[in-house]
Amino acid sequence: MPALIVGNWKMNGLGEDIAEIAAMAGSGARSVWIAPPFTLVDRAVIVSAGAVKIGGQDCHAKDKGAHTGCVSAAMLADLGATFVIVGHSERRRDNGEGDADVRAKVTAGRSAGLEVILCIGETREQRDAGDTNAVLTAQLAGSLPDEAEGLIIAYEPVWAIGTGLVPTLDDVAAAHAHIRGRLVARYGAAGHGIRILYGGSVTPANAADLLGVADVGGVLVGGASLTAQSLLAIAAAAP
Ligand code: PGA
Repeated sequence: MPALIVGNWKMNGLGEDIAEIAAMAGSGARSVWIAPPFTLVDRAVIVSAGAVKIGGQDCHAKDKGAHTGCVSAAMLADLGATFVIVGHSERRRDNGEGDADVRAKVTAGRSAGLEVILCIGETREQRDAGDTNAVLTAQLAGSLPDEAEGLIIAYEPVWAIGTGLVPTLDDVAAAHAHIRGRLVARYGAAGHGIRILYGGSVTPANAADLLGVADVGGVLVGGASLTAQSLLAIAAAAP
């Protein structure tokens, strides 16, 4: 499986930035996915013409209804999005989302036919306390759906996101091995087929090392995904 390079634009991007997605799509790079803000999903789907898969950064757990300001997985699929990110630590922090909320969103995304990137990760305090594995276990137990199909996990240490700090390669390997163990315990053989991404301060400079770690199936990239030049440099670093 070629490494999967997923860009999360967060609350960045205006109409003029669509040119970056067009450049990514025109580059011929394989396995590049972008989650622009909701406001750009429609245009991004059109300019990428399938060469870059476009997804949402979140979705509501319900298909429709009285939820002002929210976007459903069905709406994303209707625009031509093919995936959705759920459980990002910024959503957990800013919107108080817990594992049960995240699980409901995973289920909504799958029901709408989207691939779902489920984000988990420990805080600095939890790592320093030696609780990383316990935190990951609990997050998975609370948020994994019934079926493994269409599921991708993103391991994103909260303290590594947007900080320029990255775990050691050994720590990344250990976390991914732990997550793999939980996935196999939950889904049996199907747990081996679930891709696990690393996220948190991935750059063109560190991508080759991170993508070379055992069981790192790709990367989830924030700041370094905003330009085609930077994201394509990360994609080029993939083994
Ligand atoms: P970062 O963000 O690459 O800017 O650290 C990663 C993420 O939040 O997915």
